[in-house]
Amino acid sequence: MINVIGLGYIGLPTALMMASHGVEVVGTDYNAELVATLNHGHTTFKEKGLDELFRNALQAGIRFTTEYQKTDTYIISVPTPYDKFSKKVDACYVVAAVKSVMEVCPKGATVVIESTVSPGTIDKFVRPVIEADGFRIGQDIHLVHAPERIIPGNMVYELLHNNRTIGADERDIGEQVKKLYASFCQGEIVVTDIRTAEMTKVVENTFRAVNIAFANELAKICRHDNMDVYEIIRICNMHPRVNILQPGPGVGGHCISVDPWFLVGDYPSLAKVIDESMKTNDGMPDFVLGRIHTIMKEKGMTDIGRVGLYGLTYKENVDDMRESPTLQLLESQERHLAPTLKVYDPFIRQDVVEHQYHDLDAFLADVDFVVIMVKHDEIRDNMDKLAGKIVLDCHNICHLPGVYHL
Ligand SMILES: NC(=O)c1ccc[n+]([C@@H]2O[C@H](COP(=O)([O-])OP(=O)(O)OC[C@H]3O[C@@H](n4cnc5c(N)ncnc54)[C@H](O)[C@@H]3O)[C@@H](O)[C@H]2O)c1
Repeated sequence: MINVIGLGYIGLPTALMMASHGVEVVGTDYNAELVATLNHGHTTFKEKGLDELFRNALQAGIRFTTEYQKTDTYIISVPTPYDKFSKKVDACYVVAAVKSVMEVCPKGATVVIESTVSPGTIDKFVRPVIEADGFRIGQDIHLVHAPERIIPGNMVYELLHNNRTIGADERDIGEQVKKLYASFCQGEIVVTDIRTAEMTKVVENTFRAVNIAFANELAKICRHDNMDVYEIIRICNMHPRVNILQPGPGVGGHCISVDPWFLVGDYPSLAKVIDESMKTNDGMPDFVLGRIHTIMKEKGMTDIGRVGLYGLTYKENVDDMRESPTLQLLESQERHLAPTLKVYDPFIRQDVVEHQYHDLDAFLADVDFVVIMVKHDEIRDNMDKLAGKIVLDCHNICHLPGVYHL
């Protein structure tokens, strides 16, 4: 039986996927409310294909509890934020989860850390916790790191199809865990050592962050001298070895806006490009705020209360708001003591910010200037409703005349 610890954006779909492919699974989370919601037959976030997967897993007998199970295999998928000052990974959730597992697990168990961690974290923080309980790693407890690559919005498909990395101290244990993931994963599964697995995951997200930062920096350069960044990127990408990403209003989520900081924190004198890239991406919400003020001035508009931000989530068609550019922009605006902008997001049902709307038409009725922060399908489908408004399109999706860009 597999005990999946941490039933959030990664742990829940992983647990459901394994259960619906014939693996006996118990999901454990210390959030009793979350466990109760699952036990009442509801999923805890919106994701394409998740409800169907949930039904299949329930039929297959998955159980949810706040209790850690006595079993032979654990998968730990708890948060790994970064420390805002040192920029290093904050391993406290992983350490706490491993400690709780050590209290119940029998000798011979395998502990798989799925959480993203910086290279060396398992050596530095996880091994001592296990050894402190008198277990010998490699004999009493087998350690594995199996980082996750799935993207919110397409998690179910990607769980099935992405290639994966398994890092293990012992080759045979790595192969056993590979077999477990191969119960559902159709991608290639590479077995390597733990530190390599730790590093690859962080490097993958860093690659994305640096490339996004390059596109964002181009947007700033082009704005400075009034050049069309989208046309320039389009033409450059016709070069056979150039593939520039699109600029945007910033980077959010639990991965690309977080993991590259681990390398900056651990290698401050070496990770220079990464450091600058993260600062560039983190500066984009302020850049958007600057654009809003410039455009208001140009249009003779004085009431910022008539400006509306479309989108609160960190990416399109998901309900995950963590580290979102819109929240960063609102925070920055608050620091300047300016009155709050209006906000609307079709995926956010609860009230999370001031001046928030839950209906697109009501939102549009109260604003003259719309800033497209997130390219949800809903805004693409309702683009004609923006006719007559001032529009700042941070994603180049609106083709109405007179639209402003980054
Ligand atoms: N969200 C993503 O897109 C994504 C993608 C790839 C990798 N990751 C990585 O996966 C890991 C998990 O991220 P997430 O987005 O699923 O986080 P999350 O915050 O959505 O979920 C974590 C869950 O763990 C639970 N939890 C925390 N400590 C616990 C403990 N000691 N015992 C039991 N439950 C505990 C929390 O209550 C929460 O429900 C992170 O390391 C993250 O970097 C996330």
